[in-house]
Amino acid sequence: MKISLSKARIETLKTSLIVIPILEEEKPHPLQKKDMKGEFNKLYLSYDRYKGSEKVLLVGLGKRKDLDKEKVRKAFGLVIKKVRELQLEEFSVLLKIPMPEQDAANAATEGILLGAYEFTKYKTRKKEEKDIRECTLLYSGKDISKGISETVIVCENVNMLREMVNENADEMTTEKIAAIAKDIAKNNNLKIKVFEKEELEKLGCHLILAVGRGSRYPPRMVVIEYNGSPKQEKYAIVGKGITFDSGGINLKPTGYIETMKQDMAGAAVVLATIKTLAELHLKINIIGIAPLCENMIGPFSYKPGDIYKSFAGKSVHIESTDAEGRLVLADAIAYAEKIYKPKLIIDIATLTGASSVVFGEYITAMIGTGKNFMKPLFDAGEKVCERVWELPLYEEYKEEVKAEIADLTNLGYKQGRYAGTIIGAAFLSHFAEKSPLIHLDIGNTAWRDRQLPGYIPKNATGVGLRLLTEFFRNQK
Ligand code: BES
Ligand code: ZN
Ligand code: ZN
Repeated sequence: MKISLSKARIETLKTSLIVIPILEEEKPHPLQKKDMKGEFNKLYLSYDRYKGSEKVLLVGLGKRKDLDKEKVRKAFGLVIKKVRELQLEEFSVLLKIPMPEQDAANAATEGILLGAYEFTKYKTRKKEEKDIRECTLLYSGKDISKGISETVIVCENVNMLREMVNENADEMTTEKIAAIAKDIAKNNNLKIKVFEKEELEKLGCHLILAVGRGSRYPPRMVVIEYNGSPKQEKYAIVGKGITFDSGGINLKPTGYIETMKQDMAGAAVVLATIKTLAELHLKINIIGIAPLCENMIGPFSYKPGDIYKSFAGKSVHIESTDAEGRLVLADAIAYAEKIYKPKLIIDIATLTGASSVVFGEYITAMIGTGKNFMKPLFDAGEKVCERVWELPLYEEYKEEVKAEIADLTNLGYKQGRYAGTIIGAAFLSHFAEKSPLIHLDIGNTAWRDRQLPGYIPKNATGVGLRLLTEFFRNQK
């Protein structure tokens, strides 16, 4: 869908539908009927033609004092679903919202483009179905085109990321993800290295190799670099890329296994973020690392009880083959630290189911040693409404993942039953000894089992990309 900008007036405009935002308890818009109070998330459709507009859709934004960008995003998420239901190919929006016009335009665009996303690849299309071609934003003030084109870049990349996570595990394989990374590198002139299985053996990434052993798709590790400001220090972002998490020999039961194609969401966020930062030409240097494996059960699978040596040299007692994310991340984080000495490592991972016990589906857990970066990351989360909240990482937790017959265990603390989300981070922190680390657990936020009113779809949410993009925008 194309987002166009126009200074046309509603009186002279020709469109199949004009969307008009209205507020609660304020002087009603001339087209506003009595029963339309302007409550948040309420739509009112009129088939009466108004000048050159064939239909009019009023959208309630609630009370002025409660209004923020998130309300606008959510309301326009509803609007776009209505436009689709009406089978319109084109519509227009009057940007008359009491906030800076650029903010209103950005938020409406996000609501529209992110709310329009549907995973339709495997669904038979009805003949009469039409795509929405164009949305025209009617603005009146200063030029807002640069902000809008940046917002469009971000939204398109969120939708690409959602598409990757929703795709079948047997399509979105380690090879396919590596190919996507190579495409991103080629189109943006980025440095890339994909370590194939044999090279991972040479490097000594035995944890990645162990997790990948049970799969017919060999493990890989993508390292992609965006250098937007050559002289400055580098940041590293590391994403968990388990293309399917069966649990391995510690097989997941029915009720838990069905959504495990989502387990590469962290890797997808890393690639989509690098792509976005490059397309926005941010003055910043980032290394993106994605360890890619499929955690499968079979005669070649790694086994509970065995011990493996990591890239960093520390040995790990595998107490559960289902705590595989921390294993592949441990090698990738240690690699990032050793080769690049980044000023900050952020890892993003669908690491624990326990994260949903703590925060439900609304907030991503943030844990680690990169204290100076937590406030900016928190603020970025508030701004784009991909919120993060810190959980503590005290020494006691780091002690809990020490093992008897190896240096570390991948369960720890009451066999993984206590403080699961913190313990995941505690394990990872043993592999970032010099660089500060922030671990983001999106185990509860990367995937939704229901559609709530707004712009976040059911299944893959795309969480992480807008958060990291906003964070890095302010770090340059
Ligand atoms: N990929 C899962 C975590 C997960 C669960 C993500 C549900 C999204 C939704 C991870 O590899 C895992 O299995 N974690 C275990 C850890 C436990 C064995 C310590 C878990 O959360 O049960
Ligand atoms: Zn697992
Ligand atoms: Zn997993």
